[in-house]
Amino acid sequence: MSEGAAAVATGPDAAVAFAAVHRLCFADEPWDADVFACLLSLPSSLALVEHRQGGLAGFVLCRLAADEAEVLTCAVDPAWRRRGIGSRLLARVMAANRQRGIRHVFLEVAVDTPAAQALYLQCGFRPVGRRRQYYQRADGTGVDAIVMRMDL
Ligand SMILES: CC(C)(COP(=O)(O)OP(=O)(O)OC[C@H]1O[C@@H](n2cnc3c(N)ncnc32)[C@H](O)[C@@H]1OP(=O)(O)O)[C@@H](O)C(=O)NCCC(=O)NCCS
Repeated sequence: MSEGAAAVATGPDAAVAFAAVHRLCFADEPWDADVFACLLSLPSSLALVEHRQGGLAGFVLCRLAADEAEVLTCAVDPAWRRRGIGSRLLARVMAANRQRGIRHVFLEVAVDTPAAQALYLQCGFRPVGRRRQYYQRADGTGVDAIVMRMDL
């Protein structure tokens, strides 16, 4: 297990760890281990992780198609935030995407998550659109998504 440096993740153990961190980060819409097992098994997926003190501290998961990629999710355990893990994961996954011939990267981010928006802006993403009521919170409230794009 790598401590610090981002490493590629696959397999059932990774799926369980991803789901645990995702639950901490997205209480309203957690993805379970089966969802991550499915996503991680796809050849079109690319996931990078960072570990701290023997456990998963954060991950980023992308889906690749032709010369485009989508950041499906990026999550850092609350205990390890504001230490550069999220920005390092994104920088490394973008470098890996570029090596694979990816030219354009897209993502959706909820309008009520300023930390994520700040992270993506800092990493070079720019807003290009909006999806109305894209997310649904536990209380049923709909939340818009900002669509962001980065050209590599
Ligand atoms: C968004 C998230 C991944 C950031 O991870 P992180 O490891 O804490 O991020 P970093 O330490 O690399 O921060 C990089 C930059 O992002 C911005 N940022 C991160 N957290 C922030 C916060 N709470 N408030 C404002 N800006 C923030 C800052 O610009 C920061 O740079 P700085 O520390 O030099 O000011 C993390 O907060 C998280 O998992 N949030 C919940 C899940 C989520 O919203 N994921 C993204 C949508 S898929």
